[in-house]
Amino acid sequence: MALMDKHVILERNATLLLAGSLLVVTIGGIVEIAPLFYLENTIEKVEGMRPYSPLELAGRDIYVREGCYVCHSQMIRPFRDEVERYGHYSLAAESMYDHPFQWGSKRTGPDLARVGDRYSNEWHVQHLIEPRSVVPESIMPSYAFLKDARLGVKGFSTHLTANLRVGVPYSEEMIAEAEADLKAQADPDADTSALLARYPKAKTGDFDGDPRALTEMDALVAYLQMLGTLVDFSTYDDTAGYR
Ligand code: HEC
Repeated sequence: MALMDKHVILERNATLLLAGSLLVVTIGGIVEIAPLFYLENTIEKVEGMRPYSPLELAGRDIYVREGCYVCHSQMIRPFRDEVERYGHYSLAAESMYDHPFQWGSKRTGPDLARVGDRYSNEWHVQHLIEPRSVVPESIMPSYAFLKDARLGVKGFSTHLTANLRVGVPYSEEMIAEAEADLKAQADPDADTSALLARYPKAKTGDFDGDPRALTEMDALVAYLQMLGTLVDFSTYDDTAGYR
C-alpha cells in the first residue's frame, strides 16, 4: 500500500491537491479537444448531398424570413414513432449546408425534413395561400402574398458567395451562373441540362402555377419539394434497430 501512503500527502495539502487536479483535467481536456482541430470535418459524408440550387437557396431564405421554423422542425429523431411517421431519421450530413440550420425546437405543425415529393406543387401553393382550404382544421397562417412577390434575382450570386465563405462548396461556375440558374429552374421552357449537372435531382418547371412570373412562391415551393429528397434512402432499412 505504498502508493496509498503517498496519496495522503496530496489529500492533506489543499494547494497540492488543487494543482494536481488541474494537471489531470488539463491532460484530459487536451486529449478530448486537440484531435478536433486536426479533423477537417466531423460530419460523415453522405452520397447525394449537394449545395442548394440558387432557387432552393432563395426559397430557404424566405422560409427563414417568414419564421416557418417557429412552428416546424426539420429534424426527425431516431425514435420509432418519428421514423414511422416521417421516414428515415435525419442524418447530420443532411443539414451540413444549412447556415443557420433549421432543426427548430417546436412542432406546432409537422416536421418538414422529408416533405419533398409528398405533395404536388399545386397542393403546396394552395396550402400556402389558404391552409384551411386543404386542411380545414389548420391553424397555419396564410402566405398568399408570396404569389404576388417578385423574386429578387439581381445580385443573387452574392448569396452563394456568402455561403461559400462559411464552407458550402459552391464552385466558381455555380456562382457565375447563379442568376441564370435561378431563372432557369422555374422556367418550363428553359434548357436545364447545365443546371441539373450542377445540382442533380433539382426539381424544374413552374412551381407557383404562373409560368410567366418568377415569384417568392416559386422559390419556397422549390425548396419544400427538395427537402429530404437528396439522399437516396431506398437502399437503407429505416426500421433497423426499431423492431
Ligand atoms: C403558427 C404556426 C405555423 C407557421 C408559422 C407555419 N406553419 Fe406550416 N403548418 C402548421 C400546422 C399546424 C400545420 C398542420 C396543418 C396543415 O397542414 O395546415 C402545418 C402544415 C404545413 C405543411 C404540410 C406538412 C405535412 O407534412 O402535411 C407544410 C408544407 C407547411 N406547413 C409549410 C410551412 C411553411 C413553408 C411555413 C412558412 C412560410 C409555415 N408552414 C409556417 C403551422 C405553422
